[in-house]
Formats: sequence, C-alpha cells, structure tokens
Amino acid sequence: MTEKTYHIVTFGCQMNERDSETLAGMLEAQGYSRIEEKKDAQVVLLNTCSVRENADKRFFGVLGQLKHAHEADPRMVVGVCGCMMQQQHIIDELKKRYPWVDLVFGTHNIADFPKLFSAVTEQKSHIIEVLENAGEIVEDLPAKREYPFKAYVNITYGCNNFCTYCIVPYTRGRERSRRPEEIIKEVRGLVESGCKEITLLGQNVNSYGNTSYCGSYCYKDENGPDFAGLLRQVDAIEGLERLRFMTSHPKDLSEDLIQCFADCKHLCRAIHLPVQCGSNEILRRMNRRYTREQYLELIDRLRAVCPEIAISTDIIVGFPGETEKDFLDTLDLADRVKYDSAFTFIYSVRKGTPAADYPDQVPEEVKHERLIRLTEVIHRHQEAKSLALQDAVLPVLIEGPSKTDKTMLTGRTEGGKTVDLPAPAELIGQIVPVRITKAQTFSLYGELLCTR
Ligand code: SAH
Ligand code: SF4
Ligand code: F3S
Repeated sequence: MTEKTYHIVTFGCQMNERDSETLAGMLEAQGYSRIEEKKDAQVVLLNTCSVRENADKRFFGVLGQLKHAHEADPRMVVGVCGCMMQQQHIIDELKKRYPWVDLVFGTHNIADFPKLFSAVTEQKSHIIEVLENAGEIVEDLPAKREYPFKAYVNITYGCNNFCTYCIVPYTRGRERSRRPEEIIKEVRGLVESGCKEITLLGQNVNSYGNTSYCGSYCYKDENGPDFAGLLRQVDAIEGLERLRFMTSHPKDLSEDLIQCFADCKHLCRAIHLPVQCGSNEILRRMNRRYTREQYLELIDRLRAVCPEIAISTDIIVGFPGETEKDFLDTLDLADRVKYDSAFTFIYSVRKGTPAADYPDQVPEEVKHERLIRLTEVIHRHQEAKSLALQDAVLPVLIEGPSKTDKTMLTGRTEGGKTVDLPAPAELIGQIVPVRITKAQTFSLYGELLCTR
C-alpha cells in the first residue's frame, strides 16, 4: 500500500462522475493523490449506481476483490457511497456480508465526507451514515476535475418524475434547482481556467427552476430563469466554445428550448431525448406523461429548427405487460425517428419501485429477443447517419489517446460522435477541423485539416 493515495471507482451516470470529482477534490485537499491500482491505494471509494441489477452486481464483485487487500493492511480505508447506499436492503446486506467496510455514506451527505473520513481514520471506527432526505444544496465544495477542457456542471439534483421502473427518485431525492448565479459563477470559473465545453447536468434539466432551491420545504424564485433562460445566459459567457445539456424529459421540452438550437451560438446541435418506449399504453404505465405522437411531434419541431441536429435516446424493452404489439410500436418509432444512437436496456426489476410489483412481468428470453431486434433497427440507422459523414469536415474537440489504438488521438464532434485521428498530443483540449476519411457504424476516422 502507498501512503496518502486514493482510488475512486465510479459506477453509473454523469451525476456520480461529478460527485466523484468532488470526493477526489476533498481527498486532494488533505494531501492525498490518485493512483491507478486500487489494491495499492490507502483509500478506496466505490461510488455506486442502482439503476439496473447488473450495476448492483458489479459493485459487489469489485467490493469482494478488495477484501484481501483490506485484511492484509489495516491502514487501508474502504468506503462505499452513491445511489445503492440510499436503500435499506443494501445497507442490511453490507452489514451482514461485508462488515469490514470502513465507511458507508449516501448521496445526500457527500459534503460531510471529510468529517466522516477523519472520524474513520482517527478513531479507527466503522461508520454508516446515510441521510434519508437531502438538505440545502452545499456550494463551493472542492473538485478535482477529470478533464481540464470539458466539465459537467450540475443545475438540478434529484428527480420528481417517478417513472414507475426507476429507482433514481428514491436514491437522489426530490428535485432541487441550483441558484442561477451559482451556476454562472461555476461556468465562468471553468471557462477562465481554459475549459472549452460545458455540459449542464440534471435528471430532467427541462424542469430547471420549477422546483425550489432546496427541496420541497424551501422557497422557489418566481422571477428566476427557466431552463431555456438559463441556457441562454450560459451561452453568452465569454470564452465558452461548446455547450451541452442532459437529460431532457420529453414532457417538459419547451418551444423556447427548441428555439435555443437556432439562437444559441455555442449550443452543440445534439440532444439526448429518452423515449423509453413507442407504445402509448406502456408509456402510460411507465408514468412518462407523453404519447408517441407528442414525442414524434417534438422530433419534427427540433428538426424543423435545426435540420442537422443529432438525436439520441434511451429505450427499455420488456417493461411489465409489454406485448408483441407494444414492442412493434417501439420498433416503428425507432424506425421513424432514425436516431444517431441509442442506449437500449432490458427492463430490470428495482425493489421499491411501482413496476417491480406489477404482475405481468415479461419472461427473460422474450426480453432478450426483443433487445436483439431493437438493436438491429437502431444500428441500421446509426450506420446510415455515420456513413453520411464520409468526407465531411467537422470541428472536433480532441480529448486524449484513442482507446483502441494508442498511436492515435480521439476526439468528439458536435453531434457527440467519436473520431480517431493521427495528431500531435499538444492538440489535446483543442477544437480542430477534421476531415472524415473513414466512416463506420460505430467509429469515425479522420485527418487533421490543419493545425490552425
Ligand atoms: N433522468 C434520465 C436518466 C435516468 S437513468 C432520464 O429520465 O432520461 C438512465 C436510463 O436508464 C433511463 O433513461 C432508462 O432508459 C434506464 N433505466 C432506468 N431504470 C431502469 C430499469 N429499471 N430497467 C432498465 N432500464 C432502466
Ligand atoms: Fe428516472 Fe424518470 Fe427521473 Fe429519469 S425522469 S431519473 S427515468 S424517474
Ligand atoms: Fe445510477 Fe444513481 Fe445515476 S442510480 S444512473 S448513479 S443517479
């Protein structure tokens, strides 16, 4: 074990990635530095996700791997946090099967991590402290950002939508909106330090400003901006080059927000708009509060305002009660929208959510077969979208070495597609023009047009 080192394993979505940056910032403020190998670190934190069963399983797998290293060196501190910890049945399982874990905390008390960590290291005690409800948003926490050139900025926390399959409203609590001046201050600071691309984050960014600043028991600013208003304010920040947001809920996608794709200079022409399903009956049972017709109308309006917009989505197959006809509606919707890309999921029963108790669960083999058929349709359109980029010249933000070929760098287009290209490492963090030389379904290859 190397003294004063840490390693954080992050499962799940961008919210968790952002929270891990805060935890890393707090550890670095105490003189710890990050190392690659978790078994050699003095402090290992596992930031968990509970959105599907396989996320739970991966966490227990990684935790099990740490037991030996923890036994071998009593100075090692293993902490677990994140969405799984907000569920009592997980805490019970940890106490029973993993009593050696030093620190357990939840999504609502990340700000208390330094205090909890000191208590563990100084008193050598085991601590489980999970708060049921969120308190007021804590600002100005330290952060060790993953990248200097792109950053996530939270605008809302929690979710009030209660889609019947989803655990997030239970693990992240009620929706809270951050004050606009705090968001602007954070973006300005990032841009001043050289950040090129900002992604505004929330479970449903479109409802920004509808909720109070600190949960149900606090006030809401009636004169504050809505999401489109906030987006325009952020877009106007001097020096910002790219602006993105996620995730947008179709039920709250306003006309004004659609118009932002025409008006905002730095807003990337890309939107992630999860549809979940193409059947009205299943959408109703999912509590999504829109119909397939309303969704398709939104897609038409987005393309009318911005014809080149890249559209991606999330789709769940095998929700309880989904018939072959319902599934064919999903295939038909995917065929009509022609997504640039999609995350496709098999419905996973989440304890404590309404759909977990629905009687008409779909058999596993039917879910798998539907997933295969859906991905075939998604990939067909994805390929067509990708091939259409052959020979195009696109601005690409160079992000780092390619994952597949270490001699190449990889970057991202405005539409969110990755491009591999030969380029000098000095260009990492720069937006450069790239000609697409080879376009395939899942990958684009390119060459630098010039190094400015
Ligand atoms: N707030 C975002 C994302 C939530 S989680 C949104 O509403 O779009 C990311 C995705 O996980 C969801 O869009 C959904 O497609 C998927 N998901 C959530 N719960 C699930 C479950 N129980 N089984 C399968 N997929 C699920
Ligand atoms: Fe889950 Fe629905 Fe909230 Fe997204 S909007 S986090 S899917 S409850
Ligand atoms: Fe997972 Fe929590 Fe995000 S359940 S998807 S890490 S909000």
